[in-house]
Amino acid sequence: MLEKLIQKEARIAVIGLGYVGLPLALEFARKYRVVGFDINQERVEMMQRAEDPSRELPTSAFEGCDISFTAAVEDLKNCQFFVVAVPTPIDQHNTPNLGPLFGASKTVGQCLKAGDIVVYESTVYPGCTEEDCLPILEKESGLKAGIDFHYGYSPERINPGDSEHTVCTILKVVSGDTDESAQTIEDVYASIITAGVYRASSVKVAEAAKVIENTQRDLNIAFMNELSMIFDRMDIDTKGVIDAAATKWNFLRFSPGLVGGHCIGVDPYYLTYKAQKIGYIPEVILSGRRINDGVPAFLAKRLIQLLVKSDLGLKNARVLVRGITFKENVSDIRNSKVADLVKELESFGLTVDVVDPYANAHEVDEEYKIKLVSEPSGEYVATVIAVAHQDYLKQTPNQLCTHVVSGGVFMDIKGLFAGAPDGYAYWRM
Ligand SMILES: NC(=O)c1ccc[n+]([C@@H]2O[C@H](COP(=O)([O-])OP(=O)(O)OC[C@H]3O[C@@H](n4cnc5c(N)ncnc54)[C@H](O)[C@@H]3O)[C@@H](O)[C@H]2O)c1
Repeated sequence: MLEKLIQKEARIAVIGLGYVGLPLALEFARKYRVVGFDINQERVEMMQRAEDPSRELPTSAFEGCDISFTAAVEDLKNCQFFVVAVPTPIDQHNTPNLGPLFGASKTVGQCLKAGDIVVYESTVYPGCTEEDCLPILEKESGLKAGIDFHYGYSPERINPGDSEHTVCTILKVVSGDTDESAQTIEDVYASIITAGVYRASSVKVAEAAKVIENTQRDLNIAFMNELSMIFDRMDIDTKGVIDAAATKWNFLRFSPGLVGGHCIGVDPYYLTYKAQKIGYIPEVILSGRRINDGVPAFLAKRLIQLLVKSDLGLKNARVLVRGITFKENVSDIRNSKVADLVKELESFGLTVDVVDPYANAHEVDEEYKIKLVSEPSGEYVATVIAVAHQDYLKQTPNQLCTHVVSGGVFMDIKGLFAGAPDGYAYWRM
């Protein structure tokens, strides 16, 4: 297979061209002939014009790539190495929504031929590839997995907004159903990943490894959030505590905060879903999730308490929230916990203005029914620095409090600043 790919007698197909799929497809296309497939015709047309719909990559990233973008299943029929990178979200009950993954499996199944290889990249629970996706591939193709075609799992670890850790500079875990397929998958990825590849002993091990990476991070942050809630009641500065504790060589440094986005706050539910399905109640993981999901309500209540204390009056009060994306310096607003915070504040009768230099106002309105304002205006009783965008870090607390009335609150969720200007109340997690 590798030799055929090198000779461009075989093609790689990447299914799902989002934050994960597009950068990977372009990297493959520097060496191999690639077909990039997505069901979203509008996104396909943007990529055909060398535009990244996720706004992560510059036009130059498309240069020198042997790739064609398509929404037509037919175009996948002459591909031999399939990579699936579609979203794996959760529904409103925190249950995995495998619709996109099953849809992509159906598409690939319709194009599979004997000798082909299918690699899943989407984050799932252990067993999903073999127990849930393979039957679809087999049914659609009429072929037998492990005999007629082979499969593997290679989780993505990219970190949006991080220009240092990119597809090729992050060590990649690979796996395959047989030694031979694992070797081919390893060789194909190793040819583009400069950081190297690690072969997991099985597909299930690779699936489990990915989901625990994010679950571990979720739990570590949940612990910090719980500490922050305890120490806040005791009037102890959590950041000071963490700074002191981190002087010990084996203390793991994490910070409290909002856990949003499509990975850390979502992936653990894939693991808990599977655990419960097989009769195990994952108490630690679920309680961490509950704590992290409860942070917006905690912050809203805290801000109300501070405003009542500051004697500014809550009736008709206006609050300015800075930042709504799920993390700093990206435009991605998926699963934004700042949106939950805004709703909580509004439920207390406050009027909330939200600004964000990265977020797309149309997307925010569509997703959360929140209308971004381009600039702060008038007077606010408080400003909340919700996301650590570099634009805010470049400003002083004085500048950030320009529109805040004297005696108002400077809520610095992530503890980016040492304090508030004179005459303002300062609070951080
Ligand atoms: N974004 C990240 O930082 C990141 C990091 C590591 C792992 N992951 C995982 O990678 C997977 C993909 O995430 P993403 O952030 O790239 O998603 P995304 O939402 O950015 O992109 C998904 C793309 O898939 C397309 N799509 C949806 N259903 C499809 C189908 N049936 N067939 C073809 N295309 C389809 C969408 O139109 C979209 O263009 C998820 O499982 C995610 O958990 C994401």
